[in-house]
Amino acid sequence: MENIVSYFERVTGLKATKEQISVLEALVDDKLKNLVLCCGRGFSKSLLCAIAGLYYAEKSIETGIPIKIMIVSGQDALYQYIDTYITEKLKENLIQKGMYQNIPVEGFRLKNGTQVFIKPPTGKVRSNRADILFLDEAADIPQEIINSASMCLTGNSPNRIIMLSTPHREGILTDIIREPHKYNYELLSYSSEVCPWLIESITRAKKTMSKQQFKIEIMAKIPELSELNYFPRTHISKCVQPVEPCRVYPESTLEAGIDWGYNEPTVLTITEKSGIKRKVIYHNAWRHQPIEILSVELAKILKQYNIKDSGNVVKADMLPKEYKGWIEKHYEGLYIYYINLADHKQSMLEQLRIKIRQHSITIPTKYINLVKQLNSYRSEMTRGDDLVISLALSSYESPLITKQPTAGRVIICNSNSPLKSWKNW
Ligand SMILES: Nc1ncnc2c1ncn2[C@@H]1O[C@H](COP(=O)(O)OP(=O)(O)O)[C@@H](O)[C@H]1O
Ligand SMILES: [Mg+2]
Repeated sequence: MENIVSYFERVTGLKATKEQISVLEALVDDKLKNLVLCCGRGFSKSLLCAIAGLYYAEKSIETGIPIKIMIVSGQDALYQYIDTYITEKLKENLIQKGMYQNIPVEGFRLKNGTQVFIKPPTGKVRSNRADILFLDEAADIPQEIINSASMCLTGNSPNRIIMLSTPHREGILTDIIREPHKYNYELLSYSSEVCPWLIESITRAKKTMSKQQFKIEIMAKIPELSELNYFPRTHISKCVQPVEPCRVYPESTLEAGIDWGYNEPTVLTITEKSGIKRKVIYHNAWRHQPIEILSVELAKILKQYNIKDSGNVVKADMLPKEYKGWIEKHYEGLYIYYINLADHKQSMLEQLRIKIRQHSITIPTKYINLVKQLNSYRSEMTRGDDLVISLALSSYESPLITKQPTAGRVIICNSNSPLKSWKNW
């Protein structure tokens, strides 16, 4: 059988670029069992995938060994390519050879038993068997469907999984692209900037896309984990509700979180906790207020919420040290857990992320600045994160913060010095 490159050129009438040549060769290289092709939009992933399917099918006529090829694709492009090249160009050929049986929209079948079929990415892929699996625009295919598709492999040669995609959505595909060898994958990646047929559209895209979007969609570069939004926007939008920030349940407990600042603001957030549900019922920020004045204001607000009542908790950043004890001066009998953020910040944020993902926290739309900061929060951020930190403190649940300490003590919570070494201050 002719090589894949001349096959591509003969069937499509296009001249393959050197990048397409390397992709085509990888697509039909049976030694590459698990392969990811991460390329920008318009690179010709879908086209090359369709051609590789056809190539395998025609090769089976020669070898006499039938093959089953499943292509999972949510896009019409693949149907169209297969349709164009099968019906318009190959059909006559195959009929003349007496090999052609039928061409359903979903793919085609040869008389020798070879099948190339296209399945939309739904749970139904599970009921199929295939010797080779192509997943087109894999970033759009939910992980459970990728899993059930891979379970369809018969184990017969060539026993391959090939994913093709732009890395435009976080998920298993981007995990594999970040660490291909951990997942036992080979990775081949190209920017669409190398495609001469895309010059005009890319010039246009440069003007309309954001830098980040261009990097992902055209250059096929995935963002570093630290560049990603820490709290996924779709989940934040589920937590933000047009409700008043009032307490809902009489049996609930209240938890306050204070992040100190001067040029950056001091922020107080109070959440209402009821079972696994939480709701932000107070959130405010102050700038350029000396602690002497600020502490009076904060004590007043905490008193309004009867935060001293049993079950309620106040957590504050333990730095700066000079701020410690001030609120307690204006609110007798109040206990504050001073938390060492250097140790606890990561777990606090991780907990908040889980709550947001589970939509178990309600944020009234009124707190627009908090919502904005959640949307733009990135891990390892050190500025412009005060509103988020205060919310994370308020909703932080740690075994170190369970019950009210004995009267007259302020607890210093520090994970480097576990429970028994908590200092009395
Ligand atoms: N070598 C080539 N020369 C010119 N045009 C090409 C060449 N290869 C692909 N194309 C064009 O680029 C398009 C690629 O589209 P598609 O396969 O849908 O891209 P992707 O799936 O990567 O987004 C093809 O339809 C074809 O018109
Ligand atoms: Mg495509």
